This record gives sequence, C-alpha cells and structure tokens, in this order.
Amino acid sequence: MKRFVLLALTAASFVHARVWNDTGVGAVVFEEAWAPPELAATVGGAPALGKTLADLEANLVDIHDKRLALMDKFGIDFMVLSCAQPCVQGVSDPEEAAAMAVDLNNNLADLISNNTLRFGAFAALAMHNATVAAQELNRTVKELGFLGALVNDYQQSGADNDTLLYYDQPEYDVFWQMVTDLDVPVYFHPRTNVEPILSLVYSHGFGLEGPAQEFAATLSTHILGLCTNGVFDRFPTLKIIVGHLGERIPSDLFRIDEQLLRQVPLGIPMQRNVSSYWLTNLFETTSGNFATALLQFHASQIGLDRIMHSIDYPFALIEEGQEWVDSLTDVLGEDEQLQLKRGLAISMLKLDD
Ligand SMILES: *[C@@H]1O[C@H](CO)[C@@H](O)[C@H](O)[C@H]1NC(C)=O
Ligand SMILES: *[C@@H]1O[C@H](CO)[C@@H](O)[C@H](O)[C@H]1NC(C)=O
Ligand SMILES: *[C@@H]1O[C@H](CO)[C@@H](O)[C@H](O)[C@H]1NC(C)=O
Ligand SMILES: *[C@@H]1O[C@H](CO)[C@@H](O)[C@H](O)[C@H]1NC(C)=O
Ligand SMILES: *[C@@H]1O[C@H](CO)[C@@H](O)[C@H](O)[C@H]1NC(C)=O
Ligand SMILES: *[C@@H]1O[C@H](CO)[C@@H](O)[C@H](O)[C@H]1NC(C)=O
Repeated sequence: MKRFVLLALTAASFVHARVWNDTGVGAVVFEEAWAPPELAATVGGAPALGKTLADLEANLVDIHDKRLALMDKFGIDFMVLSCAQPCVQGVSDPEEAAAMAVDLNNNLADLISNNTLRFGAFAALAMHNATVAAQELNRTVKELGFLGALVNDYQQSGADNDTLLYYDQPEYDVFWQMVTDLDVPVYFHPRTNVEPILSLVYSHGFGLEGPAQEFAATLSTHILGLCTNGVFDRFPTLKIIVGHLGERIPSDLFRIDEQLLRQVPLGIPMQRNVSSYWLTNLFETTSGNFATALLQFHASQIGLDRIMHSIDYPFALIEEGQEWVDSLTDVLGEDEQLQLKRGLAISMLKLDD
C-alpha cells in the first residue's frame, strides 16, 4: 500500500502517466471478457466444471464485485476488459454494428471510470468499414483512454450472414495505419462461427464447437492470412496478440514455414516466413491454456519475450490461472516469471508511459 501511494503521487506529477495499482509483483491480464446483460445471455458455451451457465453470465456482467475480489485474492494488479465473443463481429448490418460498438465502448468506459486503478479496456469495433473502425479506435484511445482493441475474429456480414470479412485484405490498410499510428496492440480473439460453417463442419463431432477445436482452427487461419497477405510487411511495427498460446500456431511452425516456402515461386505476397513474424509482430498469451510443458516449448520457438500471461475469465478461472503462473518459479527464473505475468504487458499496454 505504501508503495502504491508513492507511485500514485509520482504519477500525478506527469500529465500523461496512467495511475494503476502497481504492487511490483501482481499480474496484468488482458483477455478478460465482459458483457452487458443482454449480450451475456447470448454468449452460451460450456461453463467451467463446477460452475453453471448462470454463474458464467453473472460473471460476465460483474466487474466490481466477485471479479475484483478474486483479483485481490489471487494477486492481479490490473485487468483489461473486452466484450465477450462474438460481440460486434456477430452483427451483419454495418450501421447497427457501428452504433453498437460506440455504445459498448461508452458503456464500458463509464462502468470502469471509478476504478481505473484496477481496470482498463480494449475497444469493441465494427469491422465492416475499415475507416469507421479506425475512427472508433482513435476515439476510444484518445478520448476514453482505451489500451487497444480486441476483435472477435472475422466480421460477419450480408443479409444471410454469408459474407465473412477478414482483415488481411488491402482495404483494411487504412485501419492498420491507424493502429500503428496510435501504436496500440490489437488482440485477435476467437468467435463462434456463422451457422453454415457450424452445420457443415462441426455437426458431426460432439463438443468440437467452441474452444476445444473450432476456435483455434478458425482464428489461426485468420492470423496466418495476416502473414501470407503481407500485412506485417506493409506495417512492420504492427502488434497483434493471439490468446490460448497462439491458437496453436507456434506448435506447428516447421510445417507451416516449410509448406509456405513452396508458395514463394507461385507469388505468395508475404516477404518473410511465419516464424519470423512471431519475432517482430505477433505475441501470444497463456489465456485458458495453463500448460507448463507447452509454454516451455513455445518459449523455445518464439522466445519467452513474446509470451504474456492472461486468464480468459470467466471462461477460465482466476484461481486456476494465477495458481499456475505463480507455480512457474519452479521452471522459470524469478525475473522471467515476472516478465511473463506483468513486465511485457506493462510495456505493451504502455501502463507506465
Ligand atoms: C492492488 O492489487 C492487489 C492484488 O495484486 C490487491 O490485493 C490490492 O488490494 C490492490 N490495491 C488497490 C488499492 O486496489
Ligand atoms: C464503482 O461503482 C460500482 C457501481 O456503482 C460500485 O459497485 C463499486 O464499488 C465502485 N468502485 C469504487 C472503487 O468506487
Ligand atoms: C466507409 O466509411 C467512410 C467514413 O464514414 C465513408 O466515407 C465510406 O464511403 C465508407 N465506405 C464504404 C465502402 O461504405
Ligand atoms: C483522433 O482523435 C482525436 C481526439 O478526438 C482527434 O483530435 C483527431 O483528429 C483524431 N485523428 C484522426 C486521424 O481522426
Ligand atoms: C444472422 O446472425 C444473427 C446473429 O448472429 C442471427 O440473429 C440471425 O438470425 C442470422 N440471420 C440469418 C438469416 O441467418
Ligand atoms: C524463416 O526466416 C528466418 C529469417 O529470414 C530464417 O532465419 C529461418 O531459417 C526461416 N525458417 C524456416 C523454417 O524457413
């Protein structure tokens, strides 16, 4: 507490510095879902074992009560909130989606305004029109103090929800230009697929919809599209964060690189290989994937300095994520563990700038 007071006083003397609850050891986590009641009721999915769907919905809506108590108890200094999937990406009408994003962002800013010591936010964005998305990102960062954006995979569109918009196309360059001008990260979070994909691909396999398989399979394709379409070549300072230990991509780099190298003579637009974008543009978090051996393997592939801790609350439990990250001192040096659970996030989110 003494340390915190000191920090608050120091920070107050710099106009731009954010004042946050920096205990020096607590975690900073940022794949953490929130939803207003009307959206929380539609999120669905399977709650953690021992919890009910009603718990999940209540925990999505709650910020200042149970969520904060768990943060205190398990050593989370600061949490960045974002709208639970599919959120705006599930709205096919462009005008409706744009208005919803503005409402959600204003609502979230308002809800956390009395405790920005503990809570920050990533913007929800309508991705139908890249210029509109860029302007709303700018507004939320400049006017609401948001720390970046979180998109829930592709933007569904069209009267029958049958058009899927991927942000790896040239028309999104105006958005990526704004992201890099603002120098904020964009988190790529999975979403439940539109109906035709669910029935064509997932109806045969009980339980494969959602986090067990569908999420990583769909989102990793979008992330790889950013690579193969040359987005990182056009925007070399762009920072994209991928949860759940990188949606499996860093587990499979040998085959991805080797196979894509064969596309070079055929004119693939990307200038480098996927491995190398993990050293310059892509980051991963541990959200909902608290697997020590896999973390170590990924550290060997992309470097521990590309990996940050997060929970995926309330779909994953704060106690589970925190007990796991705190146990990592068995396999990581103390500095490495602190870097994983807060250090890189502090610089990425510019909490101390
Ligand atoms: C700061 O965070 C810790 C958890 O890391 C918590 O125990 C403490 O109560 C927080 N302080 C304030 C002022 O919120
Ligand atoms: C912020 O407002 C909410 C809702 O009124 C309340 O529950 C919470 O205790 C407040 N937090 C602080 C730090 O004042
Ligand atoms: C996208 O939004 C901008 C700014 O409102 C507008 O000028 C432009 O016409 C829109 N583009 C499309 C394809 O609708
Ligand atoms: C970004 O937002 C700020 C604050 O509202 C505004 O002054 C500025 O013109 C905006 N920049 C762009 C490129 O729209
Ligand atoms: C389009 O998707 C929305 C929500 O994602 C759903 O409510 C609506 O029924 C869908 N429309 C069609 C034609 O499938
Ligand atoms: C990927 O590119 C890097 C840098 O250009 C190179 O050092 C590395 O060998 C490449 N990896 C593969 C598997 O091709």
